[in-house]
Amino acid sequence: MIRVRIPATSANMGAGFDTLGMALKLYNEITIEETQGKTEIKLLGGELDKNYKENLTYISITKVYDFFNRKYDGFKIDMSETNIPLSRGLGSSAACIVGGIVGANALIGGSMTYMDMLKIATDIEGHPDNVAPALLGGIVTSINDDGNIIYSKVNVKSHFKYAVMVPNFKVSTALSREVLPDSYLREAVVFNISRCAMLISILNNGEDEKLRYVLQDKIHQPYRKKLINNVDEIFLKAKEYGALGEFISGSGSTLIAVLKEEDKNFIASMKLYLNTLKDKWKIIEVESDNQGAVII
Ligand code: HSE
Repeated sequence: MIRVRIPATSANMGAGFDTLGMALKLYNEITIEETQGKTEIKLLGGELDKNYKENLTYISITKVYDFFNRKYDGFKIDMSETNIPLSRGLGSSAACIVGGIVGANALIGGSMTYMDMLKIATDIEGHPDNVAPALLGGIVTSINDDGNIIYSKVNVKSHFKYAVMVPNFKVSTALSREVLPDSYLREAVVFNISRCAMLISILNNGEDEKLRYVLQDKIHQPYRKKLINNVDEIFLKAKEYGALGEFISGSGSTLIAVLKEEDKNFIASMKLYLNTLKDKWKIIEVESDNQGAVII
């Protein structure tokens, strides 16, 4: 039996659409056991998954068995310990996929490389920016080179905290991708390339005061804002309360404000403000995770 702990992730980080992602200290745990009988998957709350063949963890496990040409009958999978909110842009599906791959590889005693794992994970997820940090931890840049995922973990000198603001409404990734244009003007492309490149160097150099400029984006956030109530007001308040910058986490609906390590007041002030809005928002303070998925 294998138990895997997988971090939540936040993809895009403003300008790095489908490219950048970071892991957060907010975890799901999945237990996987190979059985001779039929597959049984326990979901949050103890309910059994009736559609197990469509379960992302099950699919990921079977892809690893196929990779090693290993036969299987069934699996007992316990996914009842989850803290990552579902469909809120915090990598809940990436956690299911990475948990399945890492767990199955360990069960088999396999020797998959991170690149092998990321290839399978990206084939299932469609983009690498959540699965890469879920697997590796930290902030990761990924390139999809004809199906092979080339990744690089970013060296982060500064230490930040993140105010993660999760609303009670979901935004489906499919819908939030549908609202994006098929092509962009050169001005928008240059806007994002320059910011994404500078984000990496300011994280390396610890130039925190420049963070606000490089978290801006013209590729996805302007189109997705209409799917998230009060996003502009929340970002303005976050700036007023001392955040270093703000962005939509993944495809939303979660919003993230980057805080200085020494910040003491942001969460309490923001909580009061969020309580005045018509939707219900939960706010938690988390740090980044540097380990990625681990067998526990
Ligand atoms: N990069 C993806 C998107 C992440 O923004 O659609 C989805 O969580």
